[in-house]
Amino acid sequence: MSNRIAVVTGATGSLGTSMCKALINQRRTVIGSHLPDEKSTDDALSWKDMMRRDGFDVAIYPLDVTDYENCKSFIAQIEEDQGPVEILVNNAGITNDAPLKKMQPEQWGEVINVNLNSMFNMCRQVFEGMCERGFGRIVNISSLNGEKGQFGQSNYSAAKAGIYGFTKSLALEGARKGVTVNSVSPGYIDTPMIRKVPEKILNSIIESIPTGRLGQPEDIARAVKFLTSDDASFVTGTNLSVNGGQYMS
Ligand SMILES: NC(=O)c1ccc[n+]([C@@H]2O[C@H](COP(=O)([O-])OP(=O)(O)OC[C@H]3O[C@@H](n4cnc5c(N)ncnc54)[C@H](OP(=O)(O)O)[C@@H]3O)[C@@H](O)[C@H]2O)c1
Repeated sequence: MSNRIAVVTGATGSLGTSMCKALINQRRTVIGSHLPDEKSTDDALSWKDMMRRDGFDVAIYPLDVTDYENCKSFIAQIEEDQGPVEILVNNAGITNDAPLKKMQPEQWGEVINVNLNSMFNMCRQVFEGMCERGFGRIVNISSLNGEKGQFGQSNYSAAKAGIYGFTKSLALEGARKGVTVNSVSPGYIDTPMIRKVPEKILNSIIESIPTGRLGQPEDIARAVKFLTSDDASFVTGTNLSVNGGQYMS
């Protein structure tokens, strides 16, 4: 089936945009999310228009992935409007870096909430239905820094590493029900954030990548496209590192 309903959280971000395009090219019906506040809603509506002009039609609904009740009503609304969610890409994520000696409890909590607690909040809403219907694809977006750690990112690395245990456990729960659960760990990707890094540091980052280049958002989108495809039914509980060989686990 090609026109399966796919939800991408954090759809409006750099990687989310590319994932939406890849899934639409695969003839999925793609639903994105935006934060419920006024500015994010306005930005998301402009993003939706831009996507439409480029030939990509994405429905968007408000969502804060840290709010369990909001996740519940978000999925309920989509299922009422569009039909059952068969593909979920948990992509929304943030950083808020500091070395541990300077990190505030709020900084720790916020990053764990958005990057890790969101996995439970979202999967809990769709997993049972996927199992009952005998088909589901869940992809959780982790990070190179969840695999290897990173100075100043104990909160982010802990959250992203936590995704691996969650993914493997849920994969076991879904394995006999046609529901696969995997993670993708992007390395350094050519996004506006990385382009802000001073040129000298950016060059040293690129030198440390064996393929000699930054990743492109499309590199991540292609991994998501494969793991959410019907063809990937025997791939579950795994992590796909998409990092140009920078870290091999
Ligand atoms: N870019 C990289 O090089 C890289 C490398 C490794 C891993 N990753 C991971 O890949 C994912 C996407 O990264 P990106 O670079 O595309 O990030 P991005 O451009 O900053 O986009 C992040 C998205 O998440 C949304 N978001 C933030 N907090 C949210 C919340 N509480 N509820 C719902 N949505 C929320 C943002 O919405 P607003 O725009 O409205 O705030 C935005 O749409 C993240 O999980 C990130 O950790 C990225």
